[in-house]
Amino acid sequence: MINLSINGQTHAVDADGDMPLLWVLRDKIGLTGTKFGCGIAQCGACTVQINGVAVRSCVTPVSAVADQPITTIEGLSPNGDSKVQAAWVAHQVPQCGYCQSGMIMAVDALLKTTPKPTDAQIDAAITNICRCGTYARVRDAIHDIAQA
Ligand code: FES
Ligand code: FES
Repeated sequence: MINLSINGQTHAVDADGDMPLLWVLRDKIGLTGTKFGCGIAQCGACTVQINGVAVRSCVTPVSAVADQPITTIEGLSPNGDSKVQAAWVAHQVPQCGYCQSGMIMAVDALLKTTPKPTDAQIDAAITNICRCGTYARVRDAIHDIAQA
């Protein structure tokens, strides 16, 4: 059994230590807001936060995050109205939406350490792939949050 602290709740999970955190979140705990895209740390759809830092959960063995605070999209705010989520609504960022939970988790992590990021800092930190091409709206929403 591996003890995980997810969104403020403790879960004792029966899983191999090398199982990806993404599999545990989705298949063993039922937190399906975090998405599977590539499985090889390239797209960012699976982004969650460990200790507030954006991490790609598809390549993170669950044993590596035991007893560390894990935040998923479900834990960002009780009502889905965190500052990033509110800006996403205001700017109508999502299109198909598939990449967006990972995108939001990555942006939220960036703003913790860099509250007023430049375009270059956004480009360097937010490497999530969006096949719908929402990058311009993502950037506008980030700048709006930074100015608030
Ligand atoms: S599914 Fe993890 S980076 Fe693509
Ligand atoms: S909103 Fe469709 S992939 Fe990003």
